[in-house]
Amino acid sequence: MSSIKVAILGFGTVGEGIYRILNERKEDIQQETGHTIDIVSILVRDTSKERLATPETKFTDDVQEILSNPAIDVIFEAIVGEEPAFRYLTEAIDKGIHVITANKTMFAKRGQELARHAESRDVQARYEATTAGGVPIIRTITSLLPADRVRRIRGILNGTSNFILTKMREEEVSFEVALKEAQALGYAEADPTDDIGGKDAFRKLMILSGLAFGSQPDWQDVPIVGIDEVTIEGVKDAAAGNLRYRHVADIIVDDSGMLSGSVGPVLIGADHPLYSVDGVDNAIIVDTDHLGSLTLIGPGAGMYPTGSAMVGDFLQIIGKRQAVVVTS
Ligand SMILES: NC(=O)c1ccc[n+]([C@@H]2O[C@H](COP(=O)([O-])OP(=O)(O)OC[C@H]3O[C@@H](n4cnc5c(N)ncnc54)[C@H](OP(=O)(O)O)[C@@H]3O)[C@@H](O)[C@H]2O)c1
Repeated sequence: MSSIKVAILGFGTVGEGIYRILNERKEDIQQETGHTIDIVSILVRDTSKERLATPETKFTDDVQEILSNPAIDVIFEAIVGEEPAFRYLTEAIDKGIHVITANKTMFAKRGQELARHAESRDVQARYEATTAGGVPIIRTITSLLPADRVRRIRGILNGTSNFILTKMREEEVSFEVALKEAQALGYAEADPTDDIGGKDAFRKLMILSGLAFGSQPDWQDVPIVGIDEVTIEGVKDAAAGNLRYRHVADIIVDDSGMLSGSVGPVLIGADHPLYSVDGVDNAIIVDTDHLGSLTLIGPGAGMYPTGSAMVGDFLQIIGKRQAVVVTS
């Protein structure tokens, strides 16, 4: 039995989720994989903050303590923004450390570069948690690709926006009232600009585009419209006609390989797969040549869904124990 040594960058909602799940599932993971897991170090900005963690957990604000430790096998990255995350993960890959990220801002922009770098160093860079949190969309598309061709991906990629649109329809309240409720319930950030303005959904759409089509459209060519354009009058009119507003991110490839993307509010009829997706859930429809249409629905954010997506990536990296071969 070997010990796998890991470090976590960030101990906010996601970092703490990873920490909790690794600890809660320690014994199962050991049984399943034959490895013990040792959380060696956690990177934060402020080491003086009170944290939920065992006394022996080592917090540091110096990333070099982690990157220069030759014992680390895997790094979970759950900090915020393109930099310094990209630099930290590039350096980790250079040292032969596998990386798992939840950082959609970084990965939308630099993910393809990071993945190529990891491939060239023969380590893994995994990113299931960057897109739709607990919905295993990256794994699903990855497993479809060798035998099929993805033509279109569309869906609800931001739970905050979907929650607000749902509240507006169900309770006939204004956008502002619904947003305040989303903030009070912890679904929306204090600064919700990226969620309601569509940038967050756009980033996830670009990550999916890179995976499914091997490239992204020119970012300037993708129109992004937020849900702040949707009025309560519009929501009521739509409901009277049995229609619902959904904030849809959409990317489609034509036969020449040309990509067209968009993010914005769309009116959906009752026969559409996104019609019944209410509240904070995310939903993604993947159209392929062989499968036709596949829809995945589930929690798009939060401590456990996101942490669990990352621990799922981790288990794929460390591999399951080899099946026992029974001979007669
Ligand atoms: N929240 C979700 O449900 C969710 C879902 C999917 C993806 N994500 C992505 O996951 C990442 C983490 O999100 P979160 O919600 O957990 O954020 P968060 O609650 O704000 O926590 C961020 C953590 O990272 C640390 N940190 C930030 N910048 C740092 C730096 N430069 N150096 C060292 N530590 C740094 C912070 O340290 P201090 O504690 O000392 O401030 C904090 O512990 C983000 O990239 C986010 O987009 C989040």
